[in-house]
Amino acid sequence: MRTILAIETSCDETAAAVTNGRDVLGSAVYTQKEHEKYGGVVPEIASRNHIVKLPYIIDDALECAGVGFGGLDAIAVTDGPGLIGALLVGVAYAKALAYYFSLPLIPVHHIEGHICSLYISHKELGPPFICLVVSGGHTHIAVVEDYGKYRLVAKTRDDAVGEAFDKTARALGLGYPGGPKLEALAREGTPIYRYTRGFRAKSHLDFTFSGLKTAVINQMHNMDQKGESYSKADIAASFQHEAISFLVDNTFEAAAREGIDKIGIAGGVSSNGALRMAFDERAKRQGIALYLPEPKYCTDNAAMIGCAAGFLEPAGDPMGLNADASKMLF
Ligand code: KG4
Ligand code: ZN
Repeated sequence: MRTILAIETSCDETAAAVTNGRDVLGSAVYTQKEHEKYGGVVPEIASRNHIVKLPYIIDDALECAGVGFGGLDAIAVTDGPGLIGALLVGVAYAKALAYYFSLPLIPVHHIEGHICSLYISHKELGPPFICLVVSGGHTHIAVVEDYGKYRLVAKTRDDAVGEAFDKTARALGLGYPGGPKLEALAREGTPIYRYTRGFRAKSHLDFTFSGLKTAVINQMHNMDQKGESYSKADIAASFQHEAISFLVDNTFEAAAREGIDKIGIAGGVSSNGALRMAFDERAKRQGIALYLPEPKYCTDNAAMIGCAAGFLEPAGDPMGLNADASKMLF
């Protein structure tokens, strides 16, 4: 097993970790608070913050692992997708370290990183399994056929589910990041409203979340105009209930169609308690084994990037110096 220093700067988390296979030796994450007052991530601010924070975060991760640069076998970095300026900070930094210390550089796809977060929390987990990836930018159901081998079976046609949480939270007057705030509000409400699901087709298992978000916004608008009183907590609970039910239905249907009895969930939205409970309840009912990352590995972190890199070879270009933040997975 190689000792790897991993770097992740795809969005507003500046993260570094030292990993060895599925073991995390040290991990540090700085969640940039500077975006809160704008109600969303400002790409230029994210990039500039990464430049300032990354060296310190790398030092933290190395110190926490008790490893120096001399003890490393490789450098790994998120090579896309994400905010291009933010990604390029991490990629440039990783290339410079790899070049200076003569280490191979392993470019990692961000989604592959999220999927591999499951291997950190579940040492016994191995392919094949179905993985639902739910983040701010993606909503994918993939079959993990082998280490490093994925087949996409469904995805969102418009908003990612995390994006829908964030946009609905904004409409409810909650701040950014909206997902956790909407979850907290939903805990105080009851899912009394029902929304029509965009896709009911059996021919595909794709998602759509843009209509759900719009339905909630229109509903509040109509009730406001009619002077009707309503509880924002009930609306949050109803939105969350429908979003999660959609994810549960299609993920379990994908598992049935593929004849696979193991389901993993990864990405920022997988830290949602109601989602975890809903999947757990259905999994128990259907005799499916369910795998969830520990909460600290749900949202963006570098440990998952290091873990993924452990399964990858530096492709073609051993120094990895051709990495340009445009890695593709499917
Ligand atoms: O994986 P992630 O950290 O970054 C991306 O790759 O996008 O996911 C961030 C997304 C955001 O949309 C955030 O609102 C959502 O995950 N999220 C949540 C929760 N925690 C984070 N959504 C719902 N409930 C949560 N508890
Ligand atoms: Zn992510």
